[in-house]
Amino acid sequence: MHERNIVLIGFMGSGKTAAGKRLSEKLNVAFADIDELIEKEQGTTIADIFSGSGEKHFRDLEKEMAARISREAEEKVIATGGGIVLNPENMANLRQRGVIIWLSVSPETVYQRTKMNRDRPLLSGASPKKKIEELMKLRRHLYSKADFKVETSDRSIDEVAEEILNLLKKRGVCKNGRSK
Ligand code: S3P
Repeated sequence: MHERNIVLIGFMGSGKTAAGKRLSEKLNVAFADIDELIEKEQGTTIADIFSGSGEKHFRDLEKEMAARISREAEEKVIATGGGIVLNPENMANLRQRGVIIWLSVSPETVYQRTKMNRDRPLLSGASPKKKIEELMKLRRHLYSKADFKVETSDRSIDEVAEEILNLLKKRGVCKNGRSK
């Protein structure tokens, strides 16, 4: 069976990076985080890219990175940024060799998970709670186009990774412990 990439999408604070890393360890495959790769390549943080060059520039870098990662031959777990779904081209690229999993999360959980850190420019305004609700409302229908949905509120990283693994096994998307 041809193995596919496992692509995690979902709102900020849904645990894409942490659960993705854990899942890649369980599956013994590579892990790629689109935001981390952009930061590494640009030599700066996402917050600085937003403030220095604007969101549009970040979205261009994100689109380019999503396309590049999608073309790579080695199968992997891919964590995306919360706004990856805004551009249908990103999703078309990631879908080519990937199964898309939506990590869903409640607005309150996002607020609790993100309120202490300042690395998310979209939530750095005066009323992050309102912004979370607004953005979620706008994006929900885009996330819901995923192949599978996994609820992450009130769940540990390990529980989320385990549920994804079980789901993929049950649906025949991957076997347990595939090796490189
Ligand atoms: C964004 C989410 C962030 C990051 C950027 C924009 C968004 O990633 O890509 O700040 O538009 O939702 P996380 O979802 O990993 O926080």
